[in-house]
Amino acid sequence: MGNPWWREAVVYEIYVRSFADASGDGVGDLAGVRQRLPYLAELGVDAIWLTPFYRSPMADGGYDVADHRDVDPLFGTLDDFDAMVADAHALGLRVIVDIVPNHSSSAHAWFQAARRGEGRERYIFRDGGELPPNDWQSVFGGPAWTRLPDGQWYLHLFDSAQPDFNWRNPEVHAEFLDVLRFWLDRGVDGFRIDVAMGLYKAEGLPDTPVERQAFRTESPIWGQPEVHEVYRQWRKVLDSYDGDRMAVGEVWTDSIEDLALYLRPDELHQSFNFAWMEAPWSPTAFRTVIDDTMAIGASPTWVLSNHDVVRHVTRYGEGLPYSTTGLARARAALLTMLALPGSAYLYQGEELGLPEVTDLPPEARQDPIFARSEGKVPGRDGCRVPLPWSGTAAPYGFSPAGVAPWLPQPIEWAALTAGRQASDPESTLSFYRRALQARRVLRGSLPARITWLDSPEGALFFTRGPLTCAVNCGFNPVRLPPHDRVLIASAPLSDDMLPPDTAAWLHRS
Ligand code: NOJ
Repeated sequence: MGNPWWREAVVYEIYVRSFADASGDGVGDLAGVRQRLPYLAELGVDAIWLTPFYRSPMADGGYDVADHRDVDPLFGTLDDFDAMVADAHALGLRVIVDIVPNHSSSAHAWFQAARRGEGRERYIFRDGGELPPNDWQSVFGGPAWTRLPDGQWYLHLFDSAQPDFNWRNPEVHAEFLDVLRFWLDRGVDGFRIDVAMGLYKAEGLPDTPVERQAFRTESPIWGQPEVHEVYRQWRKVLDSYDGDRMAVGEVWTDSIEDLALYLRPDELHQSFNFAWMEAPWSPTAFRTVIDDTMAIGASPTWVLSNHDVVRHVTRYGEGLPYSTTGLARARAALLTMLALPGSAYLYQGEELGLPEVTDLPPEARQDPIFARSEGKVPGRDGCRVPLPWSGTAAPYGFSPAGVAPWLPQPIEWAALTAGRQASDPESTLSFYRRALQARRVLRGSLPARITWLDSPEGALFFTRGPLTCAVNCGFNPVRLPPHDRVLIASAPLSDDMLPPDTAAWLHRS
């Protein structure tokens, strides 16, 4: 039988709004994704994950879904979706779509009915007085409750335009089972589950101190035990289809033991490894995360960036967007994670070494976090700026010339376009292509476990069968571990030395 495809896959996250705009309205779309599929096949990824493209008023970039079974006109049509999936499959790329079960848009037909007083049991409505029913805060800032004119309050853990479903109502279960089948029947290979540890809230919705309201294990808001039965049901649906259909959960928790519960053999196939994404540039932090991840015993994943966090070039560069240190570390981190057992999730634009855009003008910002925090928290627009494909001026081939993309692109990106990098063997894009190719060559011949080697201060060395990976997080060059040849390095090596902020793959027979 061999390994299912997702176990060692490289999955590329497409934030659809910002990937490629074929329609010429300044917003990325499914036809744009379809046009650029050959680029992704050439890059060497195995699968794409598309963020929500469903009907939505876009209060939260599409994570406010108004109709789970249709494409928003901004992104195209169901026919565009089908054509994109057919092309992806023809190129050998699997397709994962986002499913958003914790909440809907306030424009969803169910919530529109609830506003009129019909079917409120599909959401979480409570009586209150002038004050909300409890002290819960929205993840995006401000109270997690909004009051309707008739005096009832509804719960929204995110924006007020994202009312939370009531998963204690069987109708919600039936609806989502049907939505899963709808997309599985259209040929999707898997689902990314948004806020997978949400869904159930503790009975009685008890008040809880603010410091316990974050994504914590012991919180009445997140990670209730009942949620696992949902994923057992979903797993049965996935297993009833051919072709190793899978689910990867967005599970935020502060406990490895809690995370492991979602990954039991009859639940989710994978969850994002946010501990890896959050680790500082430190060999001890990396080693701890790797050991903890491997200890779970489930299919590991590795991720450095996504559409919700500051891009890792900038994180590793201590907040400076165009830091050469940040870029060097980003390249080294890629090589390190590609050497580890499991699958790797890339975020669009990281293959171009894109930094966070830190200077977007306030009037351009669209993330609800910015508005809900009254401008105090910049929000996530800085990692969502549309990709630069070609040319020397905005919109850099993202949209047709003369069309302004939905977020402005920096002038510095003229040097970072995919077209320019494709012809430069030293570019980050060329490095990503070589790294993914090297991984493909080795994949299948590598054991599922790693062995740590003794390493000098500041560095981390490990082996996986014939592959040795060495990464130097320290300030001084270190001598490479024994090898007969260098397979690939994130920066030039001199003699037998590994410079700071560099990683290398070595072969030893
Ligand atoms: C997680 C998504 O990645 C994020 O973009 C979104 O705002 C929240 N879930 C709410 O759906």
